[in-house]
Amino acid sequence: MTAKLTALRQRPADLVGDRLPKHVAVIMDGNGRWAKQRGMPRIMGHRRGVDTLKTLLRCCDDWGVGALTAYAFSTENWGRPDDEVDFLMMLFERVLRQELKELMAENVRIRFVGNLQALPVSLQREIERAMLDTQENQGIQFTVATNYGGRQEIIQACRAIGEQIQQGEITPDQIDESMFERHLYTQGLEDPDLLIRTSGEMRISNFLLWQLAYAEMYITDTLWPDFNHHEFHQALLDYQQRHRRFGKL
Ligand code: IPE
Ligand code: IPE
Ligand code: MG
Repeated sequence: MTAKLTALRQRPADLVGDRLPKHVAVIMDGNGRWAKQRGMPRIMGHRRGVDTLKTLLRCCDDWGVGALTAYAFSTENWGRPDDEVDFLMMLFERVLRQELKELMAENVRIRFVGNLQALPVSLQREIERAMLDTQENQGIQFTVATNYGGRQEIIQACRAIGEQIQQGEITPDQIDESMFERHLYTQGLEDPDLLIRTSGEMRISNFLLWQLAYAEMYITDTLWPDFNHHEFHQALLDYQQRHRRFGKL
């Protein structure tokens, strides 16, 4: 094993185990700008971004963060030029196919959230296979938001609940937070404690609108392909200093 890999496996000594976030969510932004700065086509940034995500997953796993959720494609990203959208769909499919073995070996449980039916059929097939194969794994819970929109997620939950009411299965007063959460794509997953966004943008961009209600936010100017384990270490150190009040004193 190389020295670099060994270093990654160990949690940095200044990170305190019981002050780590249980669940980290990340808006992986800045791929296009990263490529542009280098005079390369945008897709090269997306390609590099995959390596960043693999490193982050490895860090979470090795350092004791139990869940990672990554925003890979938003419902609004369909508005990009066709060739970029096509490339991204192809990239997701190829990476999934290539990495499934490794995910199994690392005991990762992978799950996709979003409107998956609207994705290319061949990608849907890879997604189903990956979720099925890894569903019994007991390691890190890795969630990939693909064709995901927070508003769309809330609306589909409302529709499902509306149907149950119409069928006479429940009454409106039975709707509470925990029952609503059971209709979200993320059902069964704890809310993120920490949201990281790269590339300096100070916005949520329709990501996990319900689930991020009390997440701590960490925004870095670093573009996603340059985000590495040093940067993640920094984000976790910052998180450890936060005083989470949840509206109390
Ligand atoms: C994030 O990088 C990746 C996706 C949204 C799929 P961008 O492609 O948004 O890169 P910038 O923001 O244009 O630099
Ligand atoms: C958010 O990034 C979506 C993903 C990272 C998948 P965008 O680049 O699409 O967000 P905006 O357009 O800057 O808000
Ligand atoms: Mg962007």
